[in-house]
Amino acid sequence: MPASSGRPSLNYHLLAHSKASDDLRHLILEISRAAKYISYAIQTTETGLSGTTNQFGEEQVKLDVLSDTLISRSLVESGSVCCYISEEHEDVVELDSKAPFTVVFDPLDGSSLVDANFAIGSIFGIYRTSDIIGRTPREQVAALYVLYGPRTLLVYTVGGGKGVHEFILNDVGDFILLRDHLGVCDDAKNFSPGNLRAISENAAYGSAVDRWLKEEKTLRYSGCMVADIHHILSKGQGIFTNIGGGPKSKYPVGKLRHVFECGPFAYLVEEAGGIATDGSMPILDKKITSVDQRTAILIGSKNEVKATEKLLR
Ligand code: AHG
Ligand code: MN
Ligand code: MN
Repeated sequence: MPASSGRPSLNYHLLAHSKASDDLRHLILEISRAAKYISYAIQTTETGLSGTTNQFGEEQVKLDVLSDTLISRSLVESGSVCCYISEEHEDVVELDSKAPFTVVFDPLDGSSLVDANFAIGSIFGIYRTSDIIGRTPREQVAALYVLYGPRTLLVYTVGGGKGVHEFILNDVGDFILLRDHLGVCDDAKNFSPGNLRAISENAAYGSAVDRWLKEEKTLRYSGCMVADIHHILSKGQGIFTNIGGGPKSKYPVGKLRHVFECGPFAYLVEEAGGIATDGSMPILDKKITSVDQRTAILIGSKNEVKATEKLLR
């Protein structure tokens, strides 16, 4: 898309529409810069290049590790991040104690899909505080994700009723507005059921799936949370679930992580008019107890999330 298209850039949108503070705007732009490098790395990396050796016999860095390194570097260079929490690190990584923001992120979500050339993504949540343990995802001041598919898209919100906005990476490396004010309506036609293996131990989850099938809803599940929830924001309806199988199962409370997967998406989808719960309470109000905490999640169209919650009780 040419720069002359007249569509606002991410920078201008943050400045003029969202009226984000300068430090938050710079941080989001710095994150978007890392995303461009990740997007390029995905496109130029050889097939099968997930932790193997390349044709020259050189050790290849796994794409999720490379993505983590690129993002970490951007956060350091922003000068505004006191610490970050990444899927690739066991603990909180401290940077500059005097800086205002904590960033939580999944550098590459759906990384096992890379070799199959499916869409994958990066997820980010931003807090204006130094310690998020004991706090809730509602305290985020922005959330965004980047989807590396046939096109590279970035979707962000700064919350507070300012909306959820979608940008496309153009040929000269700018994120340009594609659609503003994405919305999620109350009823869903599509369903996206994660961790289906849980059904063998959790019959209620099976009943929810049966209901979707009986109602002839359309299945849209890729195995990448970013792509699957982007589908909901893009089509304006749908439900995505990842439910646990109970105490004896592989993922007792669900597979996804509260801090850097579910929290940011809950912030985005609620801002777009949908809801996100763990089956009994809003994800946004669920206390963060540890870096790698997992949670069940039902997210998307309000009426569908509530109806499914009832079946799971
Ligand atoms: P990651 O690649 O960061 O480990 O995350 C993959 C996640 C998420 O994107 C997706 O919704 C889920 O794993 C898929 O799990 P199932 O294959 O068990 O449904
Ligand atoms: Mn993930
Ligand atoms: Mn990941």
